[in-house]
Amino acid sequence: MKELSRILKEKTPKSKIRELFDLAAGRSDVISLGIGQPDFDTPEPIINANKAALDKNITHYAPTRGVPELLQQIEKKLHDFNHIETEWNKNIIVSNGGSQALSLTFASLFNPGDELIVNSPNFISYFYLGPFYGVEVKEIERKDDFSPDFEQMRDAITDKTKAILINSPNNPTGYAMSRSELDELMQIVLEEDLYLISDEVYENYLYDGMEFFSPASREEMFERTITLNAMSKLYSATGFRLGYAVARAEIIDLMEKYHQYTIAGTNHAAQYGFIEALKMENTFFDDILTTFRERRDTAHNRLIQMGFEVVKPKGAFYIMPSVKNFNMTGQDFSERVMKEIGVAIVPGHVFGSYSADKLRISYATEIGKLNEAMDRLEKFMSNL
Ligand SMILES: Cc1ncc(COP(=O)(O)O)c(C=O)c1O
Repeated sequence: MKELSRILKEKTPKSKIRELFDLAAGRSDVISLGIGQPDFDTPEPIINANKAALDKNITHYAPTRGVPELLQQIEKKLHDFNHIETEWNKNIIVSNGGSQALSLTFASLFNPGDELIVNSPNFISYFYLGPFYGVEVKEIERKDDFSPDFEQMRDAITDKTKAILINSPNNPTGYAMSRSELDELMQIVLEEDLYLISDEVYENYLYDGMEFFSPASREEMFERTITLNAMSKLYSATGFRLGYAVARAEIIDLMEKYHQYTIAGTNHAAQYGFIEALKMENTFFDDILTTFRERRDTAHNRLIQMGFEVVKPKGAFYIMPSVKNFNMTGQDFSERVMKEIGVAIVPGHVFGSYSADKLRISYATEIGKLNEAMDRLEKFMSNL
C-alpha cells in the first residue's frame, strides 16, 4: 500500500495526555489533576439559548463567518472588555473552539519555510500545528520564573521569522505577562515587522489584582495582531466547541476561505448559546475567580510544604512544579503517582523541550478533591 501522511505519522505523536488517561481507565479511585477545563456547570442561560435554537429548527448551515448577532456581540465584548475596535462583518470569524482559531491563523499567515517563535514550555498544539503548515516552531526557553526571555527571543529572530505567538495567562505555566513585558514584546514585534498571535483563552483567570491587556487594543498593533479566544474556559463550555479569531479584514477574508473548505462553518444552534454567554454580566465570574484563587493558593502552599520547587501562578488554572530534586523525570513521576496513588498529573515534556523535569497540575478541581490529591501526594513523597 502507498504511504500514508508522513506529517501525521512522524511529526505528530499521539497525545501523551490521552495516554495518561488510558492508564486511569476502569479505576474509580483516580483523582484527575490533568484536565484543562473548569469544573463548574455551563451557565443555564447558555444551555437554554442553545435548546431554544434547536426548538426553532436552527439545525442547518450557519453563515461561514458566524451568525451576525453573535459577531455583533463579540464586537461589543471586544470593545468593552479588550478595548479592541473592530467591525463585526470585517474583523471577526467564529471558529470551532480556540483550537480551530489557531489552525485558521496558521493557515492564513504562514508559507512553508516561515518561522514562528514561542516561549517554552507552552500549550501543546503550538508545537504540532507547525508541521501541518510547513512552519518551523522555534522554542525560546522561559526564565526560571517562567517569564519570557526577550534577549533570547531577539537573538532567535531571522529573516524567516514571521510571527511570535503568546498565551498569557498561560497553559501550562500559569505565568501572566506584566504590562511592561507586553510593551517590550510589542516593541520587538513592531521593530522586526512581525505578526503577533495572542491566544487569550484564559483572559479572565488572573489573580492578585493583575489586569488583562490585549495587544490588539494598541492602534499600531491591530493590523499585525491575530487575537484568539474561545467560550471554552471562561464559560466552562469546552464541549460547545466555539471560539473566534480577530484580525484585520484581509486576514479574516483568508480565514473564511480556509474555513469554508475545511469545516464549512461551526455549530449553528450552539452559536445562540454563545450570544447569551456574552450578554452575561461580568460579575458572574467574580465568585468563580475567588474559588480558583483559593485553589491556586492551596496547590501552591502544599507543593512548597512537600519540598517542590514551584513558581506561584499569576493566572489560568495550572501550576508547574519541578521534580528535578527527586531524581525523577516528569514522565516517571506522573506514571508512578498514577499507578501508586491514583492521581493523574500531566508530565511536563508534553509542553515542549524545556520541561521534561516538570509536571503540570490543573487545579480546576473542587477543593475537597484537590486536598485529597495533595494528601495522597504528601504520603507518596514521604515514602520516596
Ligand atoms: C492556551 C490554549 N489555547 C487554546 C486552547 C484550545 O481551546 P478550545 O478547547 O476552545 O479549542 C487551549 C485548551 O486547552 C489552551 O489551553
